[in-house]
Amino acid sequence: MLVAGNWKMHTDADSARALARDVAEAAGDPEGVTVVVCPPFASLSVVAEEIVGTPVLLGAQNMHAREAGAFTGEVSAPMLTSAGCRYVILGHSERRQYFGETDEGVCEKIGQAHAHGLAVIACVGETLAERKAGRAEEVVGRQLARGLRGVAPGDPDRLVIAYEPVWAIGTGETATPGQAQEMHAFIRERLQEQFGPEMGRAVHILYGGSVKPGNAAELFGEADVDGGLIGGASLNGADFAAIVAAAAEFA
Ligand code: 13P
Repeated sequence: MLVAGNWKMHTDADSARALARDVAEAAGDPEGVTVVVCPPFASLSVVAEEIVGTPVLLGAQNMHAREAGAFTGEVSAPMLTSAGCRYVILGHSERRQYFGETDEGVCEKIGQAHAHGLAVIACVGETLAERKAGRAEEVVGRQLARGLRGVAPGDPDRLVIAYEPVWAIGTGETATPGQAQEMHAFIRERLQEQFGPEMGRAVHILYGGSVKPGNAAELFGEADVDGGLIGGASLNGADFAAIVAAAAEFA
């Protein structure tokens, strides 16, 4: 199981440090659960300092597809690894929606992240209109096909897929465990087609979208739900730790 906190554009250096400390203390060292926190770029270093010597791992929320260059305001994979990151979230729906990210761009970034030894949390998910039109699998299937074209993680730990239905992000509305499982099984099938049965089985598929302490266990109990990508609830150490504890029940 894997539980990652996406802090989005929240926390400054002081509050990020305090939250990282809370998470490390409250989450402990749960057997069979990888715990990742993804603060904003500006707080990566302070969080890295705070989690040294704990099982909590560091991730970033985005990166540029190139290694270096005249790209004002951008951050590269080697910058992330040197800040202590082991993971990077790529293709989050907020990046797609507000910053014009495309499947092809996400694919390029995944290659770059892997070239620098970063594990990728690649996000997919349909909008409410797409789900209502019965096109959820078609949309997610396309995001996977284009986003993972040519991707060869080598080790299943280097690729994590996060299924985040856009209509469930920050809305308090969660996919039912059945809806999550149905889509996760579909994603699993696609991963097995591309990477082979064993690798496809081993890749973690996370659910994201209004996961809270009260609904985490029922979601994590589904066969193909291997953890969660947590937004709002990851900003509270105790809530995040409760979600980690729920994951530990199914590890
Ligand atoms: P919420 O948990 O706030 O719905 O956010 C989910 C998410 O977007 C995580 O990446």
